[in-house]
Amino acid sequence: MANSIKGLVLAGGTGSRLRPITHTSAKQLVPLANKPILFYGLESLARAGVSQVAMIVGDTREEVMEAVGDGSQFGLKVTYIHQPKPLGLAHCVLMAEEVLGDSDFIMYLGDNFIRDGVREFVDTFAHRTDGTNAQILLAKVPDPHRFGVATLDEEGHVVSLVEKPEVPPSDLALVGVYLFDSQIYKAVKSIEPSARGELEITDAIQWLITNGMKVRSHIVDGYWKDLGEPEALLEGNRLVLESIESTIAGEVDSSSRLEGRVVIESGAKVIRSKIRGPVIIGKGTVIKDSFIGPFTSIAAGCTIDSSEVEHSIILDGSKINNIDRLEGSIIGKSVAVAKTERRPFATRLVVGDHSRIDLV
Ligand code: TTP
Repeated sequence: MANSIKGLVLAGGTGSRLRPITHTSAKQLVPLANKPILFYGLESLARAGVSQVAMIVGDTREEVMEAVGDGSQFGLKVTYIHQPKPLGLAHCVLMAEEVLGDSDFIMYLGDNFIRDGVREFVDTFAHRTDGTNAQILLAKVPDPHRFGVATLDEEGHVVSLVEKPEVPPSDLALVGVYLFDSQIYKAVKSIEPSARGELEITDAIQWLITNGMKVRSHIVDGYWKDLGEPEALLEGNRLVLESIESTIAGEVDSSSRLEGRVVIESGAKVIRSKIRGPVIIGKGTVIKDSFIGPFTSIAAGCTIDSSEVEHSIILDGSKINNIDRLEGSIIGKSVAVAKTERRPFATRLVVGDHSRIDLV
């Protein structure tokens, strides 16, 4: 299916809520089941018939550009736009005008995960006959005060939008996917920065409504998550692992046992261990005398020795040694976590800025 809708993917920002992981990496490249969050979004844009994408990148641009390249691995043509400072989602629109021209476009926040994709959402906009200028995606959430919140009239038209309200007018939060026609450029040029110094997309959409444009909404039925925080990341990882299929490309010795759906990537070794899926073990990783429990993703080049790990994400090159039980954890790249028998028995830590440690 082809349509002329272009993509605007936001992969800049600060990622402060995901520190310390984001001190060294782009948050959009943190993996779910060993694949960067951003790749799920790009794949869903390609499936929705989008072929040209403008991608906003910031301080982490080198890493993002290296991972995504020219976009051909997704069937997309990607053009990069460097945003020197994260001045807001509406600022990203402002920066993209030259590349997107007067095409309709879908704006997709690179750290959002929408399980069922965006195809239906894009199709509705592409085939509209009622002159709709913008279409937003909403989801019912238990904590709307953390999001942009919409109020709808009885026909489902958006009447107003407010960013992170203390007293939310509804439980309908804005999901990180929006469709716009070229009227949005007038809006982003007319609004002023908010109290936090950003050009807010909610203010831009409110401007469209106030100026008589048509803003429609669509409610997400399937799972959606903004993966900006550690707990959300673990939940997103769990969700993706729930639908993996078993593949064993690496080696599993005869004293090991695999239960449920387990992916062992090439070059990985499982020695005298038990793995209870859904679990993914990355390329070249060694699991020795250990138990790996459900909903765990271990990236490439790790060593897990004499330990138990469950419901966790472990990034490339990390070593876990002699740890009784690691659960609900996110471990960055090249991290070493070990219990030693050395006296004095004390907890010795070399921990980077903004790390979080919960000891028992
Ligand atoms: P946010 O999660 O709202 O912001 P952030 O990445 O700065 O994170 P934090 O609040 O933890 O500091 O951003 C949503 C997405 O949009 C995310 O993928 C980053 C991207 N973004 C930009 O590319 N440019 C911007 O100016 C902003 C605000 C966000």
